[in-house]
Amino acid sequence: MWNYQLPIINFQTISELVNFQNMGEIPQNDESESRSSYTSWISETSDRQGRERGLETYQDYLGIKKEDLRGKDILDLGSGETERFSRELKAAGIDANVICVNPDYSIERFRKANSALPDWQKKSVAAIAQELPFKDECFDEVFAVYSITVFASPSKIGGNIEATKRWLSEIVRVLKPGGEARIMPLRSFPKSEEQIWQEDYGPLLEDLKKQGLDVSVELIRYKDIGHTMSSSSHMNKDGVIEEFTEYVGDKIIDARAVIKKPHEEQ
Ligand SMILES: C[S@@+](CC[C@H](N)C(=O)[O-])C[C@H]1O[C@@H](n2cnc3c(N)ncnc32)[C@H](O)[C@@H]1O
Repeated sequence: MWNYQLPIINFQTISELVNFQNMGEIPQNDESESRSSYTSWISETSDRQGRERGLETYQDYLGIKKEDLRGKDILDLGSGETERFSRELKAAGIDANVICVNPDYSIERFRKANSALPDWQKKSVAAIAQELPFKDECFDEVFAVYSITVFASPSKIGGNIEATKRWLSEIVRVLKPGGEARIMPLRSFPKSEEQIWQEDYGPLLEDLKKQGLDVSVELIRYKDIGHTMSSSSHMNKDGVIEEFTEYVGDKIIDARAVIKKPHEEQ
């Protein structure tokens, strides 16, 4: 089914969960074409000098509580190379099975950096969201934070709708019945949920609904990420500096998609 080999960093720990295939190489990217082919990816997207988001930010952006993740099979899709979410979840005392997918692991430098981490969870998979190397229905939760929607969006400007359709269908495929996916960001500073449904993601999310999935769009406000007040200053026409502090907690900054796969009917 899969036509390339995934450099799996730790084979053993996840061998029961995933269906590995050993049939070749992960596709090599031609950067110039990486936004035109739906199976391509943009390499070295993890290399952000340690600006990876951790557990707290994942909770805020995704609208989740760490306690609810106990015992779950979780896919962190586009984890970033240091897999901060999986390590901090473990450090917080939550025992969950977090598998981290990151196409940059096909580059040795990233594998080395990752495997040197003292608290590396050893559940790292080099793959792309458009072709997930996992068997059907094996995750309770799929999280994607600033990953696939940034690098393969349905936007008419610079996006790739086929790539988006592919990762959406792959996410649905790997979700267990009763499982859910939380994916963000869908758009910066949306005005409303309706706006998301009317724009690029709308038809794709509607299609999922037609397939029987429970799909919703949730707005993310400043207060959700712990930011409520904003200060600024300006010099008025008399040369006097005026300070302003305003409440910005209700301002919308982003949106996430929540896709739930229904339980199988008895
Ligand atoms: C900006 S980092 C975000 C890392 C982390 N989720 C965070 O919020 O800090 C983007 C991640 O998306 C991954 N990525 C890019 N294209 C991808 C694709 N097609 N499939 C899966 N992951 C992808 C990158 O390798 C990287 O791990």
